[in-house]
Amino acid sequence: MKIAMVGSGYVGLVSGACFADFGHDVVCIDKDQSKIDRLHEGVMPIYEPGLDALVTSNVKTGRLSFTTDLAEGIEGARAIFIAVGTPSRRGDGHADLSYVRAVAHEVGESLSNDAVVVTKSTVPVGTGDEVERILRESRAFREKGHRISVVSNPEFLREGAAIGDFKRPDRIVIGAEDDFGREVMREVYRPLFLNESPILFTSRRSSELIKYAANAFLATKITFMNEMADLCEKVGGNVQDVARGIGLDGRIGGKFLHAGPGYGGSCFPKDTLALLKTAEDYESPVRIVEAVVKVNDLRKRAMGRKVIEALGGSEAARGKRVAMLGLTFKPNTDDMRDSPAIAIAQTLADAGVTTAAYDPEGMEQARPLMPEVVMATDPYAAIEGADAIVIVTEWDAFRALDLDRVKALAKAPVLVDLRNIYKPETLRAAGFVYSSIGRT
Ligand SMILES: NC(=O)c1ccc[n+]([C@@H]2O[C@H](COP(=O)([O-])OP(=O)(O)OC[C@H]3O[C@@H](n4cnc5c(N)ncnc54)[C@H](O)[C@@H]3O)[C@@H](O)[C@H]2O)c1
Repeated sequence: MKIAMVGSGYVGLVSGACFADFGHDVVCIDKDQSKIDRLHEGVMPIYEPGLDALVTSNVKTGRLSFTTDLAEGIEGARAIFIAVGTPSRRGDGHADLSYVRAVAHEVGESLSNDAVVVTKSTVPVGTGDEVERILRESRAFREKGHRISVVSNPEFLREGAAIGDFKRPDRIVIGAEDDFGREVMREVYRPLFLNESPILFTSRRSSELIKYAANAFLATKITFMNEMADLCEKVGGNVQDVARGIGLDGRIGGKFLHAGPGYGGSCFPKDTLALLKTAEDYESPVRIVEAVVKVNDLRKRAMGRKVIEALGGSEAARGKRVAMLGLTFKPNTDDMRDSPAIAIAQTLADAGVTTAAYDPEGMEQARPLMPEVVMATDPYAAIEGADAIVIVTEWDAFRALDLDRVKALAKAPVLVDLRNIYKPETLRAAGFVYSSIGRT
């Protein structure tokens, strides 16, 4: 089957390459000329483990190609995926649907065959109805009478593990309103049907809500553990033991119970906000999610203050220098969107503390977002002369630091571990003044 993927970012490029690997003919479309040029040159525009090899091998077989020309890209495609960004709209937190609408208009003007248009972007409830309205008012529908079905197929992949997640998903959710849509989607995901990945067919609106409900629930799980961590620090508990103790209860589950500096990334912050807006529009408040958003916002700056405390408080901290290890919102990605590192560095800068940072993949994206931070060439260069070290992202490269070298290079052996990657007793035995999250 020919598939067109409109939007070749983290989701579109991974999904397109995986669909090609399933045996479909895929054209990835993007309006960003430089992205498409890089793909033509065999250079990945994003960092995602395994993507390079997957794209290269599928380009070689002729099943995967790239273009900026939407009309050419969708020609003959049975399924046209919309995988463009849906960021928070400036000012009010609603999902900005302008990119999705623009694609729907363009598809409607250029479509030259029957097709299923699939929203893979995370979109608020009712967006499928709007996309369908746009398409039905379009030239392709009015003049040529092409059969069109609009389907919701939210994406649940995690950056850093995206290819595995796409090929072996916990579930696939398909929200369709007619047999044409369901049939084409069954064909698109046939290889996964054979793998027995659970496929859930729902209404379009339920499918759209499933994505937001899933992200809000996960954000709640993280935020709950972060507050338990704060309580552990006060009462003298260990949040990792608490997580293990509750996670063994099958009703709770052991995953996603890691306390840390607060959630970030391109999805949870904007999706929780967009869900609040939907709830507000429909006068059906989601108060738990409201609390989660507030608690998480406060937490990121609180982490900056934790570092300032480790430097001896705000008076003592002024003029000091911190080494920040890790900038991305999680390891194995270069994505800096809404990373806690940004708020932490800002809090430090406001307190007169300078920061030198190192991240294995995120520094290029981080530079414009954190102009006050000096980017170092490796962790040790960041640590040299630092009054304190803060671990913000749990990259493997930081799990096995040469502690003697760290101590020799730093001005003071102060380490704030916001990801609990070290054991307090090991670090203290090695002579560090060590603090972490939810452990005393
Ligand atoms: N990143 C994730 O981990 C993830 C996971 C699940 C769902 N999602 C959702 O998937 C969607 C895409 O996210 P992303 O992280 O891949 O975004 P992204 O910003 O990495 O990519 C979006 C791409 O769409 C392109 N684009 C925008 N308008 C276009 C147009 N009119 N024609 C062609 N291309 C156009 C942009 O140039 C960009 O390359 C969002 O709704 C997001 O919430 C993201």
